Amino acid sequence: MQVINKDDQAAMAQELAKFEQKIADEQKIEPGDWMPEAYRKNVIRQMSQHAHSEIIGMQPEGNWITRAPSLRRKAILLSKVQDEAGHGLYLYSSTETLGISRSQMIEALQSGEAKYAQIFNYPTLTWADVGAIGWLVDGAAIVNQISLQRTSYGPYARAMVRICKEESFHQRQGYEAMYALAHGTPVQKQMAQDALDRVWWPSLMMFGPHDSESAHSSQSMAWKIKRVSNDDLRQKFIDQTVPQIEVLGLEMPDPEIKWNEERGHYDSGEINWQEFKEVINGSGPCNFQRIKHHKAAHQEGEWVREAVRAYKQKQIEKQNETAA
Ligand code: 3HC
Repeated sequence: MQVINKDDQAAMAQELAKFEQKIADEQKIEPGDWMPEAYRKNVIRQMSQHAHSEIIGMQPEGNWITRAPSLRRKAILLSKVQDEAGHGLYLYSSTETLGISRSQMIEALQSGEAKYAQIFNYPTLTWADVGAIGWLVDGAAIVNQISLQRTSYGPYARAMVRICKEESFHQRQGYEAMYALAHGTPVQKQMAQDALDRVWWPSLMMFGPHDSESAHSSQSMAWKIKRVSNDDLRQKFIDQTVPQIEVLGLEMPDPEIKWNEERGHYDSGEINWQEFKEVINGSGPCNFQRIKHHKAAHQEGEWVREAVRAYKQKQIEKQNETAA
């Protein structure tokens, strides 16, 4: 066991007090700042899982790029999927400032050690699913990410500002696609309804378990990594989405949705938490397929990484030659 001497203990206590004061004063924690090891690990966990969600999230939508119903829809979808790749890259880069490499994060994803949003383990069966993902999945993501613009880790908060702007466009294009279907032929309207019914519940699960079951919430809230609780964010999403369903003229996906005058919120039915657990633990309909595809794509990209390493090596050699 490592023995810490009294001077080191005092210095550490001082650093901890400084760190806690910064958090209390709403100052950001920056990469070079001292931080408790548990804070660093927790931010890496959340940020890397967030990055993985952006990257794996490209798959269900990418599935429809070649089959989008018009050139306009195809161009929109293509740029949306590219945006998600960009979000993944900002987040991997920001996470690297905490002392973990991107290849370590990828390894954790591929081995199943790191999670990613469960929603992406469901298939996209029809074109309406693409609309429903933009509207509901990106919609749920924004509700959470707006609060994360105030997260205590500086690089994460700053990445969220840009990501939120793009997610907002994603949400609107999804809603517009759903609106076109909901006001189209009876078959198109049915397709929109079916997508809403299937995507609704997994979208609610995106906010994570109930607060009482959330392993990380109390520490993450105390350190201001998370600013709003899982249940409060979920309620906010329900409250803002129900009127949108009404505008679409679709049936509610949950018969228990009802305005509660006393609470000033919509009541809704209970989520199937058993399904949530199964999906986050690897047994969702597409978990195997998503990781298999990620591994294959990563393998195919090896030549790019090899070229980057060779270029870097050449630069070092050149610098050494000039210095000699
Ligand atoms: N999917 C998969 N796993 C989930 C989950 C979900 N929807 N919700 C919770 N979990 C996992 C947690 O990661 C944790 O597992 P771990 O200990 O192995 O990491 C466990 O369930 C317990 O949950 P907690 O409530 O204790 O976890 P958190 O405090 O981390 O809260 C969270 C969960 C609200 C998702 C939080 O991590 C968070 O805000 N993350 C950042 C936002 C994010 O990841 N968004 C991804 C959305 S998708 C996206 O942005 C792509 C875009 O294209 C739409």
